[in-house]
Amino acid sequence: MVTVVVGTQWGDEGKGKVIDYLAEKFDIIARYQGGANAGHTVVVNNKKYIFHLIPSGILYPKKICVIGNGVVIDPVSLFEEIEYLKNNGIEVEGKLFIAENAHITLPYHKLLDKVEDKFRGKGQLGTTGRGIGTTYTDKFGRIGIRVIDFIDEDVFIEKLRIALELKNYLFKEYYKEEILKVDKIYKDYKPYREGIKKFAINTAVYLNEKIEQGKKILAEGAQGTFLDIDFGTYPYVTASNPIAGGACIGLGISPKKIEKIIGVAKAYTTRVGMGPFPTEIKDDIGEKLRKVGNEFGATTGRPRRCGWFDTNLVKFACIINGIDEIILTKLDVLTGFEKIKIGVGYKYEDEIINFYPFNSKIFSNCEVIYEELDGWGENISNIRSYRGLPKNVKKYVEKIEEKIGIKITKISTGSSRGQIIEKS
Ligand code: GDP
Ligand code: IMO
Ligand code: MG
Repeated sequence: MVTVVVGTQWGDEGKGKVIDYLAEKFDIIARYQGGANAGHTVVVNNKKYIFHLIPSGILYPKKICVIGNGVVIDPVSLFEEIEYLKNNGIEVEGKLFIAENAHITLPYHKLLDKVEDKFRGKGQLGTTGRGIGTTYTDKFGRIGIRVIDFIDEDVFIEKLRIALELKNYLFKEYYKEEILKVDKIYKDYKPYREGIKKFAINTAVYLNEKIEQGKKILAEGAQGTFLDIDFGTYPYVTASNPIAGGACIGLGISPKKIEKIIGVAKAYTTRVGMGPFPTEIKDDIGEKLRKVGNEFGATTGRPRRCGWFDTNLVKFACIINGIDEIILTKLDVLTGFEKIKIGVGYKYEDEIINFYPFNSKIFSNCEVIYEELDGWGENISNIRSYRGLPKNVKKYVEKIEEKIGIKITKISTGSSRGQIIEKS
């Protein structure tokens, strides 16, 4: 059966760390959406790995990793990652499978992503510039190039010509950019086309067969609920469905096969790029969170905006994803704050709002209602039992549980694999 891991905030909740921790008990780890915009960090034996496309279970010698059809694949990023792993003694051949029907990100997607976002002016989204929105746009516009098309020389050239004709018109006439050449892309991408062949299979058939055989699959979400194209803070979102439902579409598995959904929540909140963020802290405390939590993007290196935990958001994430349990991460980062606030509601024009509003006027301008708890000074990063945690830490954890109505089952207190507390 399948367990899905989803981000409950704006991404970077520590999904990589959690996936790596959980992967031990699974046979297959499968990414279902997003692309190289993701940056999932795994720290094992003091070595840090950042995965953009390859599932975070790859460090285990005997686990199979799958990049599903819902993912958009930038071959440059993919082979950089494969090379990096190889140089660190990790061979992916025979362990990694890529969906034949996943879409490929090409140079024009990346260029268009960058120029488009610049042209948005005041409405700039602050995308990662990885060609994510533009690859998904082509997928839905039915001019995308899938892995299976990419591999086939004739099909690739034909599709590339059609796509480039349109993109070059935009680059030349509208964005005043240099046009891109079919021949150059063809030549530059030849090694990737050769290279990807050995990984490409019908992953939907493969995964369903494995489910029939009783194998356990861990579906790895990228980004987070509030970056979801349908349920996030639109238009300040990514172009895919990170929510749990996205796993069915992005892997080709029936909703009937999903057994469990685990939400990952950071003990405070962060966001990269533009968009509303009610509990954002703009003073020294926010700066301290960024510094202590090392809140800099794993993909772009941009400083992450930091703020307090927002229970309205995580509560909504629990509902929309059908979350069974929460894994709370980075609780150690809150050590040393005299007072810790939790956003428990919003107020807009004298009205109290106890849910996540889609109305961006409300969400951008609401006042947050906070509850304030006493902090703690003890270092908790080496504590391994829930009982052993300081009283105020437990009060904070239990306050979150009470407000979101879902149990926290594990608490992460450091970036390393072993730094986790089993709560129940
Ligand atoms: P992801 O995108 O959800 O996988 O998260 P990122 O990897 O982008 O960001 C999480 C960051 O926090 C990484 O640098 C992790 O190594 C680190 N991290 C994960 N869990 C913990 C934790 O419990 N405590 C601390 N201090 N760092 C953590
Ligand atoms: P992981 O998987 C945090 C943000 C970008 C931008 C918006 C749209 O590491 O949690 P895009 O390039 O996707 O079109 O950018 O989404 N974003 C992320 N923020 N973590 C991520 O992934 C993100 N992937 C995209 O910063 O605001
Ligand atoms: Mg990340």
